[in-house]
Amino acid sequence: MDRIQYERTGPLLSLTGVGFRYPGKKDEVTALREISFTMETGEFLCVLGPSGCGKSTLLKLIAGFLKPTEGEIRMEGRPVRGPDWHRGVVFQVPTLYSWLNVRDNIAFGLKMRRLPKEQIRNAAQKYIGLVGLKGFEEKKPYELSGGMKQRVSLARALANQPEILLMDEPLGALDALTRQNMQALVRRIWRETGNTVLLITHDVDEALALGTRIMVLSSRPGRILNEFHPDFTRRYLGEDGEKIRYLPEYRELRGRILSEIIGENGTE
Ligand SMILES: Nc1ncnc2c1ncn2[C@@H]1O[C@H](COP(=O)(O)OP(=O)(O)OP(=O)(O)O)[C@@H](O)[C@H]1O
Ligand SMILES: [Mg+2]
Repeated sequence: MDRIQYERTGPLLSLTGVGFRYPGKKDEVTALREISFTMETGEFLCVLGPSGCGKSTLLKLIAGFLKPTEGEIRMEGRPVRGPDWHRGVVFQVPTLYSWLNVRDNIAFGLKMRRLPKEQIRNAAQKYIGLVGLKGFEEKKPYELSGGMKQRVSLARALANQPEILLMDEPLGALDALTRQNMQALVRRIWRETGNTVLLITHDVDEALALGTRIMVLSSRPGRILNEFHPDFTRRYLGEDGEKIRYLPEYRELRGRILSEIIGENGTE
């Protein structure tokens, strides 16, 4: 189940001049324009931007659910042609199978890939443990809280050992406390697994709490306005998280990012 390690030249993920238009009879919607960036293994990229600017569209393009109308997306040098397990996706609303219990939801993708039973059982158990769901293996989704369902979604994506984890506002629907606990969990998993993560969020503090890199998009059609490289997520691991938000350098960067968004759109 260990990932095959091999030498790679070039970035893990690359987008070159990516644009996307939703077709319409009269009114096409241009959601994204001229998006170019690369991601390296181990990065935690948070994408911030106003509502409707094309963040989910960007994630769906990278996942392979949509195809760019312009430009190209490559994963390890190969064009993305459709969804596959190398790119794990976690949505805002957990999309669990209501008739399957926690263990079977997490194992679902591995079963589809027809991996050996023993391997599936071990992987499911490992990721159930990693997201703190031991003891809940037999529960069905309706027996779980919102935060627990999101843990199952996360474990299900991780169980496939994707090359990159794509998350679209995965914590957006959670209450503030659960959200902070989940942020800590996502951060810990990122550190322990060495995963590469692209997370979409509305929340500047969430981006600062998690990202090694923050990309700010303009309002629609989304273009990249600016990029920041914070290091707070590593410091959160060693310090009392609440204190970090009050550090002068945190406030300063937060202000710069907000003025970038506000400057573009007039409002936050
Ligand atoms: N299936 C669709 N058909 C037509 N237009 C769409 C479709 N999906 C999204 N759009 C439009 O494309 C634009 C970008 O949508 P998208 O969902 O990517 O935005 P977003 O940044 O994720 O917004 P939010 O922050 O509210 O989730 C929006 O103006 C939206 O109305
Ligand atoms: Mg969205």
